[in-house]
Amino acid sequence: MNMTIGAVILAAGEGKRLKLDAPKPLAPCLDKNLVDFPIREIQKFFTQNKLIGIKTAVIGHQKELVQSYISKRYPDVKYAVQERQLGTADALRAYFDSDPSTHKLDYTLVICADTPVVSERELTKMLELLQSAQMDAVAATFQDPTPKGYGRIIRGKKGFHIVEEKDATDEQRKITEVNSGLYLLKTSYVLENLKSVDSNNKSGEFYLTDIFKDGLNVDALCFPHGNIFLGVNNLEQLEQVETILRKQKKMALREEGVRFIDAPHTYIDDDVEIGAGTVIYPNTYITGKTKIGKNAVIEMGAQITNSTIADNARVLAYSILEGAILHEKAHAGPFARLRSGADIGPEAKIGNFVEIKKSVLARGVKVSHLSYVGDAFIGEESNIGCGFITCNYDGADKHITKIGKNCFIGSDSQTVAPVEIGDNCFVASSSTITKSMPEGSFAISRGQQTTKEGMAKKFIKVKEKK
Ligand code: UD1
Ligand code: CA
Repeated sequence: MNMTIGAVILAAGEGKRLKLDAPKPLAPCLDKNLVDFPIREIQKFFTQNKLIGIKTAVIGHQKELVQSYISKRYPDVKYAVQERQLGTADALRAYFDSDPSTHKLDYTLVICADTPVVSERELTKMLELLQSAQMDAVAATFQDPTPKGYGRIIRGKKGFHIVEEKDATDEQRKITEVNSGLYLLKTSYVLENLKSVDSNNKSGEFYLTDIFKDGLNVDALCFPHGNIFLGVNNLEQLEQVETILRKQKKMALREEGVRFIDAPHTYIDDDVEIGAGTVIYPNTYITGKTKIGKNAVIEMGAQITNSTIADNARVLAYSILEGAILHEKAHAGPFARLRSGADIGPEAKIGNFVEIKKSVLARGVKVSHLSYVGDAFIGEESNIGCGFITCNYDGADKHITKIGKNCFIGSDSQTVAPVEIGDNCFVASSSTITKSMPEGSFAISRGQQTTKEGMAKKFIKVKEKK
């Protein structure tokens, strides 16, 4: 029979020390916010262990903002409001008060909104211990040689209890096993033991840690790597967790066959996918829902967001891609800018200082130098010369430019949209094309050249020598 569980995300705190405009659960972390991480891992934990679960966020500080963020992304999350932040035990009471059906679930998981490195693996280990040793409650702990701010674990012959730093004696403060704030509890146990939690301590708060007692059927599971539980209370810790998360991401990609030239200087967001054999140069910033195929090359300084890069494609140095698609074996850069809707066909080549927006370029198209292509369609194998511009905007509206297959567009030309150039056309260099061209046609629109012998000296000014 599947076990039932209530996962409680403690997200009522303010997080003053972060000095951000947002409540702590909404502090940015990689391409997400802090609270996204525990929600995602709880879901994995439920699935992995076939648990039937509900997720509840305890909210308080700026609760409307926190709730509106979570509900847009995770409609299944429920809420419990803790009006005043009287402590972690009070937060859990608010949870149980919010919905009586939570009392009937087999287990209760308590996780903080500000520990984004905690993963499904730790939760599963705790569940295994709870079930195999038939415990009533398990707290995740770790060793910290120089503990600061953490509750200390005081193990008894059976069971254990936790002393908060503020309330600890000098002797107790020397204890290096500390409380992570992550707990897996039998619901019946926590309900029973929450009753007696009071606020007779130095902080005057209701401590959830007081539910753990010597002599009871509770255990502290000590994890070897404390940085898993790093909580985000200030901007330095935020940087630290982001570094850890990115490092984990790169390790996972490396195992899939992605090669990094200098991994510590490569920034890759959480949702990015990269195929085997792809090489990533340093100082690259790959974010959002970017998907990169196999055997692609991303050269140094590339900034790629929400883009798709197919197998064997190449992004050359210092190119910026935002919502763009590079099909197989296409090249872009160096110094290319592919904006939203740039769809670059297989084997196409986009060169330096070329900007492309909302345009579909078919197989083998070349736009090699200094051009702007916007709201355009360019057919297979057409060659666009240096310094080409689609004049797509009339000050009010954007208009479409269509260029057919196998066209040759001479350098320093412009097309004034809306305009359509058929297949196999030739536009002479320096032309301004304002009228559509039928298939196979040639167009030239530039002033006639006049040459006057000996006349140059009239125009060349020479400085008088003193
Ligand atoms: C808590 C633990 C401590 C542990 C540490 C790990 C207690 C009493 N102490 O201390 O043993 O070592 O975490 O980081 O639990 N929150 C609410 N409502 C409240 C109070 C807190 O939702 O009334 C939330 C906070 O937003 C935060 C979490 O609970 O996400 C932990 O609270 P915090 O005040 O940071 O606890 P610590 O003092 O760090
Ligand atoms: Ca904390």
